[in-house]
Amino acid sequence: MLSLVVLISGGGSNLAALIAEAEHASYPARIVAVGADRDADGLLFAEQHEIPSFTVPLSSFETREEWGRELLRQIEQWRPDLVILSGFMRLLPAEVVRALAPRLLNTHPAYLPEFPGAHAVRDAMQAGVAQTGASVIIVDEGVDTGPILAQERIPVLPGDGEDELHERIKVVERRLLADVIRRIADGTIRLEEYAR
Ligand code: GAR
Repeated sequence: MLSLVVLISGGGSNLAALIAEAEHASYPARIVAVGADRDADGLLFAEQHEIPSFTVPLSSFETREEWGRELLRQIEQWRPDLVILSGFMRLLPAEVVRALAPRLLNTHPAYLPEFPGAHAVRDAMQAGVAQTGASVIIVDEGVDTGPILAQERIPVLPGDGEDELHERIKVVERRLLADVIRRIADGTIRLEEYAR
């Protein structure tokens, strides 16, 4: 059974889906804690399911490095097998990435390497593409540049607004993430192969 720490910044709808998945007895992972960098709405899902949570706001620290060290300390208390960035909207300091690699995964609402960064859905709409996608990657020290573990194309439909498109992308993200975790658990994906 894999233990997961999930980090969020916002509404946490993907977190909610993963909590629901992990409640199935046959699912090979459990969420041991949820962390946030702010008073994120999604922390409510952790509370509702009696999953411990922690919040480490960047503004409480003089430097990003100090913030990162405290975040890492909180994460490591739970001794997770995997750490999942699920709508965590801050770049982690390199020291944190190095400490957790290759056990640090991120879901991203685009078909990487297309549209990296914090506004992937808006960027895809503005570029006028006919299709975008969803990706699950291993986090490295770049911005959404790590090895891709799973990804899928999603069409941009006529009349799509950013929110409609993002909601359709998230449905795919949830499935890809749940599947990647399952494949790590059963050894189909071997994270050791990505260790540097
Ligand atoms: C998800 O689409 C996730 O991929 C994205 O934020 C959303 C979080 O939604 N993350 C990024 O854009 C990271 N670059 P949620 O809070 O409803 O789960």
